[in-house]
Amino acid sequence: MQIAIDGPVAAGKGTVSKLAAKRLGFLYVDTGALYRTVSVFCDREKVDKNNENSVVDLIKKFRPRIELRNPNSSEIDGRLCTVLLNGQDISWEIRTPEASQGSSLVSRYLGVRDYLLDFQRELATKHSVVMEGRDIGTFVLPKAEIKIFLAGKIETRAKRRQLELQSRGEDVSLEKVVSDIQMRDRQDMERPLRPLKRADDSIEIDTSDMTIEEVVGKIVKLVKERLKNE
Ligand code: DC
Repeated sequence: MQIAIDGPVAAGKGTVSKLAAKRLGFLYVDTGALYRTVSVFCDREKVDKNNENSVVDLIKKFRPRIELRNPNSSEIDGRLCTVLLNGQDISWEIRTPEASQGSSLVSRYLGVRDYLLDFQRELATKHSVVMEGRDIGTFVLPKAEIKIFLAGKIETRAKRRQLELQSRGEDVSLEKVVSDIQMRDRQDMERPLRPLKRADDSIEIDTSDMTIEEVVGKIVKLVKERLKNE
């Protein structure tokens, strides 16, 4: 079974998807982590992320090996998933504001999106998944049985992201968080290639005034109803 969850920055996709997957016994797949890893890889190799040819050439030449998995018992430190780049744990390195912005830049390129596409689809054929990102319901898993579009007011999303950054010792003003989110959302929605867009057959959930538990409960209920009717 495939559950696709899309939405803008800090709508709660990660936390909600992870908990719903756990409750259902499905695999949680954070596709944003893949684009973030490509961004970190570019920085390490000193490649300009605004230069499409350089980024795509780098990926094609070195074919970085990216692994996503559930954290093991020695990795319980608040992360939602463990991400390895060529065997090295970069689970926290990909969560900085620079990697957020960088991932949005490199996600505009066809060569990058296609490099990551097979990996995403393969996971969804081997496992039942809760996969979250921007183009999951519209492009990666068009036949997903349940498609959710998570939305939320900018103030609520920004506050959430600020708390998350503060818990990691990063003190950023709310104004800066709001402007970073708006810039990234605009970039993700306005890019020509597989932009963030609500799938016509998706169910929209506005998370602004809901608790995490309420959102997870709603998704799990939708899945169970669907399974009952199969
Ligand atoms: O979900 P996230 O914030 O970790 O995603 C990081 C960036 O990756 C996001 O700004 C756009 C890009 N992305 C994408 O283009 N398609 C996806 N399916 C997931 C993420």
